[in-house]
Amino acid sequence: MSYVLLTGGSGYIGSHTALALLRAGEQVISFDNYSNSSPESLRRVEQLAGKSMVQIKGDVLDADALAAVFKQYPVKAVVHFAGLKAVGESTQKPLWYYETNVGGTIKLCQVMAEFGVKNLVFSSSATVYGNAQNSPLPETTPTVAMNPYGQSKLMTEWVLQDLQRSDSSWNIAVLRYFNPVGADASGCIGEDPNGIPNNLMPFITQVAVGKRSELQIFGSDYPTADGTGVRDYIHVTDLAAGHVAALQHLSKGEGFDVFNLGSGLGLSVLDIVTRFAAVNQLEVPYQFVERRPGDVARYFADPSKAKAVLNWQTEKTLDDIVRDSWNWQKNNPNGYN
Ligand code: WQD
Repeated sequence: MSYVLLTGGSGYIGSHTALALLRAGEQVISFDNYSNSSPESLRRVEQLAGKSMVQIKGDVLDADALAAVFKQYPVKAVVHFAGLKAVGESTQKPLWYYETNVGGTIKLCQVMAEFGVKNLVFSSSATVYGNAQNSPLPETTPTVAMNPYGQSKLMTEWVLQDLQRSDSSWNIAVLRYFNPVGADASGCIGEDPNGIPNNLMPFITQVAVGKRSELQIFGSDYPTADGTGVRDYIHVTDLAAGHVAALQHLSKGEGFDVFNLGSGLGLSVLDIVTRFAAVNQLEVPYQFVERRPGDVARYFADPSKAKAVLNWQTEKTLDDIVRDSWNWQKNNPNGYN
């Protein structure tokens, strides 16, 4: 019986992926320092799946703690979620981001190599496309990072590509997420950001549940249909399924490859806010303010490669996204606390 190891498994995307893997019949280990997540998410994952998983508290920078996992359990593949992901924070603390995101991945790969485990799915981000103006964006879009967070993801992709070139027994899939949103339809697990949400959807749901007074819409003068920013919102359940598909792809020994995980549909801030209010029959007060520095007008995926190679595409609709986001927040006004 071999295991799939999820670093950062108790986080937003990690917990949904753990659930998808358990439901697919896999044995799962989560290795997480809980710095930006709660073990409560994994307790609920076990309840939803009706089966247990291994939960280990540890830090990817602690090679001994990582090695202990490989010593104790037969690991067949790793999905590497553990990392720091706040764009603004990364500009304040770049060394922390490079040490954790790049250094942590290097440590992980060193330990994996020591135990002969060479199947890796890496959690990357569409942020590596920088301020690309020509959406829909294929994987061949030139990459350039606009902040230390994006740079750390891009540098990690380069490290992994060089690793696989140096040793062809590695099978690595890099997944570039667009904008993860939503929650499992049960409403038991979901996004639980620390402090003031940076991202749109958790801010909307916190306004809806009364934790915040109103949404500030950053910019209404973009060259888009309604003047607000357009993004590619991907339901986290679809995103989790993309990881399962990538692991299956790696089991065929496929070298190194990069995939966009997105819907391919561009939706504006107003599309999201108005649909959220309509589907859930509630008010979301908002006001237009200045553009947020660094934002681009339109940003969405060309997801055709994931469809062709992984046989994966999004299934959830905008209504699923806004309904499931609210269902999680309504049932958990204070997240996992
Ligand atoms: C979406 C849209 C905002 C908040 C970020 C990271 C990226 C990735 C995904 C990790 C934009 C608008 C937002 C608010 C608003 N994260 N907005 N009011 O910026 O597309 O991507 O998250 O990999 O790296 O950059 O997502 O949710 O912050 O913004 O008007 O309070 O919502 O201007 O148009 P973004 P977002």
